[in-house]
Amino acid sequence: MPVRVEELHHALEEGIQLKVLRAPREFVSEKSNAVCHTILDVMELGPPDASGRRSPVPTGQTETMQVDLVIMALGNASNPIIKDSEPDLKTTKWGTIDVNSGSQKTSLDGVYSGGDATRGGSTAINAAGDGKAAASEIAGEIPFTAAEIKELVEKAARYTDQAQAPATILKKTELAGGIVEFTVNSPVVAKAAQAGQFVRVLPTPKGELIPLTLADWDAEAGTIDLVIQGMGTSTIGMNKMEVGEAFTGIAGPLGQPSKLHRYEGNQTIVFTAGGVGLPPVYPIMRAHLRLGNHVTLIAGYRTASLLFWTAKGERVDRLQQEFPGLLEVIYATNDGTFGVKGFVTTPLEELLKQNKAGEGRKIAEVIAIGPPLMMRAVSEMTRQYAVPTVASLNSIMVDATGMCGACMVPVTLDGKLVRKHACIDGPEIDAHIIDWDKFLPRFEQFKPQEQLSRVNHGLV
Ligand code: FES
Repeated sequence: MPVRVEELHHALEEGIQLKVLRAPREFVSEKSNAVCHTILDVMELGPPDASGRRSPVPTGQTETMQVDLVIMALGNASNPIIKDSEPDLKTTKWGTIDVNSGSQKTSLDGVYSGGDATRGGSTAINAAGDGKAAASEIAGEIPFTAAEIKELVEKAARYTDQAQAPATILKKTELAGGIVEFTVNSPVVAKAAQAGQFVRVLPTPKGELIPLTLADWDAEAGTIDLVIQGMGTSTIGMNKMEVGEAFTGIAGPLGQPSKLHRYEGNQTIVFTAGGVGLPPVYPIMRAHLRLGNHVTLIAGYRTASLLFWTAKGERVDRLQQEFPGLLEVIYATNDGTFGVKGFVTTPLEELLKQNKAGEGRKIAEVIAIGPPLMMRAVSEMTRQYAVPTVASLNSIMVDATGMCGACMVPVTLDGKLVRKHACIDGPEIDAHIIDWDKFLPRFEQFKPQEQLSRVNHGLV
């Protein structure tokens, strides 16, 4: 791409060495998966185009360059996910964010934009100017007096202090084979949490960010409950943490809360919870019960020794005591050691058949939470019976704020394949619009790295 003269000068001043007329063709790694060299196409300038500009063309020759770290430029084009993630934000035909003429205001109330996102490729000076212009527009529209602003700032400072309270583990319970329940100090999350939302946990300063659906919370005590199955290096490490230790950070509550409806008459909402699906199901189920809805819980496990929260006096039983006649529970184990023998789909199919025959309660909707393959199986089954179904997706996430695209969910809307993001559009998404064939391989994409990490940490 072309470069501005001042950019070139600045780059050379910084000591950057330029490879002129070379284009990366391939990155080559060693056995350890670390990149070791890159193969470059040797280019030459081709004939001038109509504007007189000569574009580089490959000569057919290549050369090798040793490297130990490669940082890919993400591209010069506008962010392609803006349109899907924020459909009300007007963009130009080039995909940049549209602003009102002579202003930095976008089509969204209270949202301003500038710099490359609006101008396309531009200089940092222009971006800084746009920022200043937006700041003075915003300042001109603030509907508060100086005293009110002072009060708001003080309130924000108090809130920040509370949000920075250490995420100390207050209680730890080993639930079943490798599954641990933690009660953690997190007053801000506990105050704002709603059924169906999740948090992003940074277990240690150099750890990775782990999305975890809230299993429960207590706004008064300022605590949240998280249930963690030790699967990878991070979650196994988290489950070794003890009462008194603290996670480095917890951000949330994130994601959309569950959409709750009051279903009158002889209707029921069926929850299918597979494996550790029960903890995320629990608050959603409770919210429906509080609304007066009838709920049927189908909780499935591999085997009886993995059951938890199901004994007398434990969470499921407590809900049944609190909402008599409103919660029906069906257990299933793959090996038949407890409840129905089979998967969650075994009793679900029975219910769907009864429903079709006009027997039992009418199934208003099905909510599936658990392993991706289970959610797909539920979705395919309910589709045949035209029963609305929601899947709560535990996608791989990085930022959990809609920016990185890691949690992308391919869905078909109006006959078109578009992207949704589990972190901001979900975690609950209409299961029947998900393109499961495209979605499921995303769960496998880091399997080799996860395995290598477990080996390197002596966990296998
Ligand atoms: Fe990054 Fe959802 S986790 S966009």
